[in-house]
Amino acid sequence: MAFDDTLDRSAIWKLGISFFGYMSLLTAMELRLFDLLAGRAATVAEIRAELELHPRLLPDFLDALVAVGLLRREGDRYANSALAEEYFRCDAPTSIVRFFQGARRRWEGLPGALKTGESQVLVRGGSDMFASAHRGQEVWRSLMSWFDYLGAMKNPELAREFDWSGIVDFVDAGGGSGTAAAHVVRENPHVRATVFDLPHAEPAFEEQMARLGMREKVSFHAGDFFTDPLPRADAILFSAILHDWDDEQRAALLRQAFDALRPGGTVLVTNHMIDPDRRGKASSLLVSLNMMLITPGGGGYTTEQCRSWLTAAGFVDTGAQPLGEFESLVTGRKPDDR
Ligand SMILES: C[S@@+](CC[C@H](N)C(=O)[O-])C[C@H]1O[C@@H](n2cnc3c(N)ncnc32)[C@H](O)[C@@H]1O
Repeated sequence: MAFDDTLDRSAIWKLGISFFGYMSLLTAMELRLFDLLAGRAATVAEIRAELELHPRLLPDFLDALVAVGLLRREGDRYANSALAEEYFRCDAPTSIVRFFQGARRRWEGLPGALKTGESQVLVRGGSDMFASAHRGQEVWRSLMSWFDYLGAMKNPELAREFDWSGIVDFVDAGGGSGTAAAHVVRENPHVRATVFDLPHAEPAFEEQMARLGMREKVSFHAGDFFTDPLPRADAILFSAILHDWDDEQRAALLRQAFDALRPGGTVLVTNHMIDPDRRGKASSLLVSLNMMLITPGGGGYTTEQCRSWLTAAGFVDTGAQPLGEFESLVTGRKPDDR
């Protein structure tokens, strides 16, 4: 058999290398390397002594972390990159360490999930993700940090590029820490924003609003969006919400939004949405699998599916556009005469 020079072999290599990088990141977290380097720089010898490591692998381990952007090296000293300082110190309010550690356990359940179709969180005795407040506010805060991290890649665009000029009352349904609402109000000061979320989300919301200096600008309305009506509004956002639920629950949420919106009001749905051909956007398909590992009935969907759900709920003039590098925004308008 002739050797095929035209075959692009790099896709396999890139997958393998991203696994090595991911394992290096998890190991650095496990060693608490980013905590050791919080706000300081250290030499290989100092890191080695403090973490009690062998000299053979450590220099390449540290330089690999520099190469992937998690550490900085100045002269012979290593420090956290800005990203690691913000997200990978265990004690940072923005820490996403817990999410990454949990992701590894969940994805080890993929073979089982493919056989049974079951969420690996529930199978392993974990609780429903949003009932995690039962496991304490610390778990809840780390969940919110993860969503705020994802939101940081789309909220600025949502606040700037959607036309908020005709909107006064805005409800972020399942708005969590309030970060998206804060972005919208900061960019569009005429908007009055309300975060609607479960009661146990309020303490983390209060803390985040205080951190962002937005406490007076965004209010919190405690409720369950399946059983309590949403507040009356000109615009209602579901950001990273619909992929948590099954089709029936998604339809129920969109009906709730339809009922709460004033005539002419807009529903906005943002999520990692799958491309129509279901092959062009690996990140959205992998996020979909992640949601199926986490939730009993959730998962990804295409922009076209989302638009059809909006139409079924009574919305008109539906549209879809990219939002940030990874997500999409789907919108629909409640008719003026409804
Ligand atoms: C995946 S997070 C998304 C948070 C935020 N919208 C974002 O984009 O970062 C889902 C949010 O929905 C909220 N949620 C879950 N079930 C809810 C319910 N029954 N009623 C109201 N909010 C709920 C959770 O508390 C959480 O804040």
